[in-house]
Amino acid sequence: MAKITAGVGCSHVPAIGVAMDTNITDQDYWKPVFAGFEKSQEWMKDNKPDVIFLVYNDHCTAFSAEIIPTFALGCAAEFHPADEGWGPRPVPVVKGHQRLASHIAQSVILDEFDLTIMNKMEVDHGLTVPLSVMFGEVDEWPCPVIPLAVNVVQYPPPTGNRCYNLGKAIRRAVDSYDENINVMIFGTGGMSHQLQAERAGLINPEFDKRFLDLLTEDPVTGSQISHLEYMREAGSEGIEMVMWYVMRGALNDDVEEIHRHYHVPASNTAVGHIILENR
Ligand code: DHB
Ligand code: FE
Repeated sequence: MAKITAGVGCSHVPAIGVAMDTNITDQDYWKPVFAGFEKSQEWMKDNKPDVIFLVYNDHCTAFSAEIIPTFALGCAAEFHPADEGWGPRPVPVVKGHQRLASHIAQSVILDEFDLTIMNKMEVDHGLTVPLSVMFGEVDEWPCPVIPLAVNVVQYPPPTGNRCYNLGKAIRRAVDSYDENINVMIFGTGGMSHQLQAERAGLINPEFDKRFLDLLTEDPVTGSQISHLEYMREAGSEGIEMVMWYVMRGALNDDVEEIHRHYHVPASNTAVGHIILENR
């Protein structure tokens, strides 16, 4: 049977991708950001997944304001990089895993979570930046990736509690898959940031630290953080952090925190990263 062995939480700051793509990672500004991922890249080599299930958000790249699915599962054979802002990153095409994705669609939808099935989808920095910081620069991504796009762009996004319970349904789906494979789950986005209006530039390290502590130690409490609290404490884009709860729900209650990295600033936000292994 397939097994979820570990979870990775990771920011997706687009400027981090640009720093890698333009070879400026050794500049003083970026050095401490990338230093925190050195251990992660070692750990990835030692714990190579067969498949990554990657929870992320689209930034009006694949979806315009015309259609906004709450949860969209990537069931295609491949996903091409595209982006707003800086444009498509020069990174490899992301290969999917259609057999496992179809199984997850069937299991999770019959488990009463109404996913949107995406047989064609482009992927932006929300998905490619976490892959880049975990794998470094590569000619091909080392394993297939199943994307799950979550709406955190237009109100109302799903609650942390809904994300946590969806993670549990994804866990049940993977546990019932008939191949002996090792699946790793990524929850991405965050940390605290606000890109617009009066509070643009807001970063709240105290909130971010509490978020990371609760994620590891008390996810039931952390999953109850309300939209209002994210907005107030973590800024208007801080709501991206609910996606980490899909990852957390798919893990055991009891996890070991293997690595944590937190650094301010990177572009307009804090970089947050955590690696959790099932105990
Ligand atoms: C920034 C952060 C994001 O999450 C994003 O999607 C775009 C920009 C930033 O910090 O600049
Ligand atoms: Fe974002």
